[in-house]
Amino acid sequence: MSALEAVSVTKRFGGLVALSDVSLDLRPGEVHGLIGPNGSGKTTLLNMLSGYYRPDGGRTSLDGEELDALSVQRRARLGIARTFQKPRLLPALSVLDNAMLGCWRDTRAGFVETAFALPRARREEKAFRDRAIELVHGVGLGHALTRSAGLLEHAEQRFLEIARALAARPRFLLLDEPAGGLTGAEIEHLGRIVGTVRESGIGVLLVEHHTDFVFRICGRVTTLDRGRLIKHGTPDEVRRDPEVVRVYLGA
Ligand SMILES: Nc1ncnc2c1ncn2[C@@H]1O[C@H](COP(=O)(O)OP(=O)(O)OP(=O)(O)O)[C@@H](O)[C@H]1O
Ligand SMILES: [Mg+2]
Repeated sequence: MSALEAVSVTKRFGGLVALSDVSLDLRPGEVHGLIGPNGSGKTTLLNMLSGYYRPDGGRTSLDGEELDALSVQRRARLGIARTFQKPRLLPALSVLDNAMLGCWRDTRAGFVETAFALPRARREEKAFRDRAIELVHGVGLGHALTRSAGLLEHAEQRFLEIARALAARPRFLLLDEPAGGLTGAEIEHLGRIVGTVRESGIGVLLVEHHTDFVFRICGRVTTLDRGRLIKHGTPDEVRRDPEVVRVYLGA
């Protein structure tokens, strides 16, 4: 079955075990929640799947093929895209140019063709621009195409990061706290974006502290505590689990 997987991964930073024997599989067309207290290892697991860290034990794989030796860029080409806990945009560039940066993985034109703006490079640029414009509209920023990304509101920056990640035409999209700092209405908007992404067949990993949001839109939820997987299941199973309530959700 096609999936992006972490299999029994362990990650240490010096003496700290950030992840211990954690497994997770992300399937196409699902929204999979990843929750847990601060420092429980959520971002570390996302970094492992996207290639920023290598596991000290266990492995990551895509459709059963091992990924561990592959760089962030190679994984991006295989269809793994992400956003960051703190948005990482190029503030001086326009919204459209930021979104277009996500298209690079599809480039076929070589350096010489691009440098001299030969026909293939020009056609590619037009296709990238059209795709980026559509995605920027899709996340609700169509009115701000030419605005500098640095001038966007916080929520708008988060939505633009999602558009940029989607511009790479990923199979899997890993979102690190996309609802962080968003208002209720903005979280609703985010929910509609994630719903549309899921319907297109992309598998979404949703790292989030807004647990109501997670339980509402996820099909499955994995819970970490201090680097260990404590519960995996449907939102109802996770929400009612005594251990999850004890360490994270509160009584
Ligand atoms: N590059 C690093 N070097 C050293 N320690 C790290 C590094 N990255 C993460 N850690 C540590 O690993 C543990 C897990 O961190 P991680 O960022 O994965 O947690 P998290 O679940 O994403 O937390 P939060 O909800 O606060 O974002 C923490 O103790 C953190 O301090
Ligand atoms: Mg984190």
